[in-house]
Amino acid sequence: MSSNEVRDKHKKYLWPAVANYYQQPLVADRGQMQYLWDLDGKRYLDFVGGILTISVGHCNPKVTGKIKAQVDKLQHTSTLYPNEAIVALAEKLAQITPGRLQKSFFTNSGTEANEAAVMLARMATGSFEVVALRHGYSGSSLIAKALTGQAPWRRGGVVSFGITHAMNPYCYRCPLGMTYPDCGVACAQDVEAVIQTCTSGRIAAFLAEPIQGVGGFITPPPEYWKMVFNIVKKYDGLFIADEVQTGWGRTGKKWFGIEQWEVEPDILTTAKGMANGAPVGATVTTAELADTFQGLTISTFGGNPVTAVAARATIEVIEEEKLLENAHTVGAYFRKKLEELQQKYPLIGDVRGMGLMQGLELVKDRKSKEPAAAELTQLMERSRENGLLIGKGGLFGNVVRLSPPLNISQADVDEAIRLLDKSFSEVRT
Ligand SMILES: Cc1ncc(COP(=O)(O)O)c(C=O)c1O
Repeated sequence: MSSNEVRDKHKKYLWPAVANYYQQPLVADRGQMQYLWDLDGKRYLDFVGGILTISVGHCNPKVTGKIKAQVDKLQHTSTLYPNEAIVALAEKLAQITPGRLQKSFFTNSGTEANEAAVMLARMATGSFEVVALRHGYSGSSLIAKALTGQAPWRRGGVVSFGITHAMNPYCYRCPLGMTYPDCGVACAQDVEAVIQTCTSGRIAAFLAEPIQGVGGFITPPPEYWKMVFNIVKKYDGLFIADEVQTGWGRTGKKWFGIEQWEVEPDILTTAKGMANGAPVGATVTTAELADTFQGLTISTFGGNPVTAVAARATIEVIEEEKLLENAHTVGAYFRKKLEELQQKYPLIGDVRGMGLMQGLELVKDRKSKEPAAAELTQLMERSRENGLLIGKGGLFGNVVRLSPPLNISQADVDEAIRLLDKSFSEVRT
């Protein structure tokens, strides 16, 4: 098929709500480590990574080799029979997830991981209500959409029964109009106010992303998560960290984002970067909490031998190649270079994120902070033309999301910065 044929069939046979990037969507053909090629043979440096999912490079042979071997050996049994692949993965998760988290429930996606977390929290506490954050994103099912705090992802009769939202720690656009650190992190107190005024005072859980991903890499101040954790505990709720984007070393040095704030969640959910593109999600919790699950549950494909092997192999590459360290050092270098770009282009209002999860919030004017969504659309088109893939996020569609594989080098960052610089210089403001 030609690129145009693929685009035409995509339009004809897939739901249009699942939007593509670019005016003329890029038809992906093949990938190799940090590069992606389109069907016309053009090569791109990929700083999106399948939305923070390609942790160790496209088609990394250390992962695909193990997937291929497993496909030939045993592809699927359901969870009716234990197998080596699933227990090896679960054991590894027990070792690398924070604190007392020991037991996993495997699914196919982040959405299901969050569904299972909320279900478990309700059973464990006997309470029903859940507090989430504005600007958060939790997935595509009805409960996940109800947890989500952005209108475009909540349309079509989403019922938020028993779910309520607190202010998010969005320092660049403080919902309270205050400035850090003089604010005393007042937004954290809003979680308590919400529990006191919008719930029965007894919550099953608080669920949030350590860094809001789809929201535009919104990164809380250092004190925030400990303050929120203490409030959640005061009201006997469970703290659920949604690590779908921030997991697997993405934020540098630590396996999971919440560890950067030294908080130990009761339940951790994850997916995306866990298996370098193979569809797997996990809800990990303590042995005591896992024991409180009532009745039966199953996920037919969850953690099947092939995806379990893919996840285990991805973790192995992260360990062997010291990618937690790489994400930290190359991420710090990347951040410095992005801040230099900010000095050059007034369009860049804010640079934020951690490790290899960096965002640029674009504004028409640094004083008014009017979101520059059209300019970001232009920047994306220019970057694509110049051979660099970048992502988009934020409630206002004005945040550049940069999330390359964790095994990129400083030279890749230099190349990305050169291409970004060129692309910014071509944006008409
Ligand atoms: C933080 C977060 N949670 C949950 C999800 C849902 O994951 P999935 O698309 O695998 O269902 C996403 C997806 O983008 C996410 O970013």
